[in-house]
This record gives sequence, structure tokens and C-alpha cells, in this order.
Amino acid sequence: MTEPQTSLSSLPATRPAGCPFDPPAEFARIRGRNPLTRMVFPDGHHGWLATGHAVVRAVADPRFSARTELLHSPLADLGPLPPAPPGNFLNLDAPEHTRYRKLLAGKFTVRRMRLLTDRVARISTDRLDAIERVGGPVDLVTSFAYPVPALTICELLGVPGPDRDRFRRLIADLVTKFNDPALAPDERLEQGLSAFEAAQEYVRDLVAAKRGAPTDDLLSDLTGTDLTDLELAGVGVLLLIAGFDTTANMLALGAFALLCHPDQLTAWHADPDRAIEELLRYLTIAHTATRSAMTDVELAGHEIKAGETVALSLQSADRDPAVFDHPDILDLRRNAVGHLGFGYGPHQCLGQQLARVEIRTALTALATRFPTLRLAVPASEIRTRANIIGVYGLQHLPVTW
Ligand code: HEM
Repeated sequence: MTEPQTSLSSLPATRPAGCPFDPPAEFARIRGRNPLTRMVFPDGHHGWLATGHAVVRAVADPRFSARTELLHSPLADLGPLPPAPPGNFLNLDAPEHTRYRKLLAGKFTVRRMRLLTDRVARISTDRLDAIERVGGPVDLVTSFAYPVPALTICELLGVPGPDRDRFRRLIADLVTKFNDPALAPDERLEQGLSAFEAAQEYVRDLVAAKRGAPTDDLLSDLTGTDLTDLELAGVGVLLLIAGFDTTANMLALGAFALLCHPDQLTAWHADPDRAIEELLRYLTIAHTATRSAMTDVELAGHEIKAGETVALSLQSADRDPAVFDHPDILDLRRNAVGHLGFGYGPHQCLGQQLARVEIRTALTALATRFPTLRLAVPASEIRTRANIIGVYGLQHLPVTW
């Protein structure tokens, strides 16, 4: 076994000045020398950091667990974490994870995706109409990037029309509390968890309503399975958490990236499906995943001991020159298949088809409606944001046309 000489004292977090789309520069140096290296976590745990594409993929192995109670966060000192609530299968392992995953995967049907595609198109058009009525400059984050996925999730879960404003406030609270820069990490966690409970309470009521009077949506469909009300509420909240902030920030950062690379718009319109994969690779907004070894595991010339946590830098893996030529260049014509923007292995994003529909539909509608869209402030004034669950994003995106 080779033992690395040094241990990183923390996860690299500072992005290069002037390039908000690039991961911290330190990743390239670490990846080149040692794609799996020791790292001290914020709570003092001595674990590992995987930065190379091959090593990150290799951790998708049943000897590694996604259970919260076994994990140490590489992003903040969150103390010992409780087990995931019922229904949150992102933080379960096989066979429990497989049971949920199979049930859910069977519900993301071609018919449902087609229906949702039409709804996303309608939602995008409505938002763009509203933006046009107000006139520029507008903040694209609050007027477009957040409402589109929020309303899409309402469609997915079957949130009734009169509840939608309340539901959007619940979601907004979830995001802002977990991210509020004015709060210390433990306060963010505490307030985020109470916002989480409020969302969970709403979804629990929604599940009860769907049992009584099912409608044409995923949640109603799931009431026909053997999942309990508590599990169904947990699944609903997981979809909300996993599907909202991610897609919203992908739309915001994606629009920002396109505005900063206007030469790439032709490629976007020529083949949006190919272009989306490259945008997902280049931005890798869900930048870090986490797993813990359940037994001693030999990996990339090192021995990971049972109980040690590995931080998986998806954003570093997606800039690995061993897999992608000139990885720091956004090239919407490239074939970016194999990127880890949706993770890898059994937990790979369940909602990726819906996410692709939202990105393609919303960004194409935006670029088509406002061909002269441009930033209303210099790019250097756009404020980015980090959060304690590892989703990179924008605080605002003022644009005009
Ligand atoms: C651009 C938008 C999105 C990105 C970048 C993204 C990214 C990811 C990533 C990286 C993972 C794996 C996490 C891990 O391995 O620890 C994941 C899992 C997941 N995502 Fe997404 N996601 C997006 C949109 C969505 C949407 C729209 C939904 C559903 C409405 C969704 C539902 C889920 C679920 C349920 C999981 C857990 C899957 C499992 O554990 O089996 N995601 N996502």
C-alpha cells in the first residue's frame, strides 16, 4: 500500500477569481499528483478526497455506504448525523435503496415525461411573458430560474393550484435557510431542518389528500404501491429537495455561462441535447458527493479503512484531462458523455430525464424569446453562492435586452 505523504486540511473551496465556472484551481494539482488523497474533514474526521474521474467512479461499489449516520460532511461541521427519514432513499443502501429506486423508476414513464415536457414549456412561456411585461432589467434567478423548477415539481407531485404559492414559499424557505450566509453552519442546519419539517408536513397532508382523491400525478400513482404515508411523504420531500435547487441553479448558471460565451449559442440551437451534456459537465453544480467505507477497501493504491468517509469531487472528475480534452473549455459541440454531473452508480440522479427536459426547454425558450439578452451588470459583479449540501449556484443574475 502507498501512503500519501500529506493530508489536505480541508476541501478546496475557493474558485479562481474572474472565472466563476471553474472549480478551485487546487483540484488540478491534487488530481495530477494523487487522485485519491487523505483529507481532514471539518468535524476533524481523517478521511479521503477523490478527485480523478476513474477513482470517483470506483467508489460506486457496494462496500461503500450512502447512509447519513455513517458519513462525515466534507463541507461543514454538522456533527453526528441522524439516519435518513423514511422515504429518503438517497441515503439508503441496497437492498432498501433498490426497493424504492425500482418503485420510483417505474413511475417516471415515457407518458409522464411527455406530459411534463408540455407543462415545462407552458411554465417557461408564462414566466417569459411576465418578464417581458415587466421589462428589463430583471433578476433572472427570482423571475425564471427558481419558478420554472418549483412549478415543475408542483406538476410532478400534483400540488393543487390554490396551494402553489404556499408550496413555493415552503421551497424557498428550504433553500434560503440552508444557504443563508448571515447564519453560522449549525444555525443554517437548524433552520434548514425546521424548513424541511414544514415541507414534510405539507407533503404528508398532500399524500393524505391523494389517497382520498387521486389525480394524474406521481404522488397519486405512488399511493397504489405498498409505501406507507410516512414513506410517501419522505419520497415527495426528497424529490423536492433533490430536484429543485439543483435545476434552479443549473438554469441560472447555465444562462450565465451562455451569456458569457455568446459564440456557443449556435451550437446550443443546432443540437441542444448534446450541448446540455457539456453544460452539465462544465458546471457540475452538484459538486461533491460523499460515501463511507463499510469494510477495509483497497483503492488506487491506498487502503481505505472501514468507517472512513470519502468525499467525491464530481466537479474535479468532470475536469479530468484523462477523460475530457481541454476540460476547462466550454465546447457545446463536444461529446461529453460520461460526465458525472448526475453522479454515478446506483444513486445516479433519478430525475435526470426531467432535469434535461427543464434545461432544454427553459434555456431554449429564453434564448429564443430574447435574442439580444445580455448581462445588466459586469460579469465580475455577479455573486455566486455555495451551500452546505454541495450545490453551487448564483445569488442573482440581472439581465436586460
Ligand atoms: C440539473 C439538475 C440536477 C442535478 C445536477 C442533479 C444531480 C444529482 C446527483 C449528483 C445525484 C447523486 C448524488 C449522490 O450520488 O450522492 C442525484 C441524485 C438524485 N436526484 Fe438529481 N439532480 C438534478 C435534478 C433532479 C430532479 C429534477 C429530480 C427529481 C425531481 C432529481 C432527483 C434525484 C433523486 C431522487 C436522487 C437520488 C437517487 C438515488 O439515490 O437513487 N434530481 N442528483
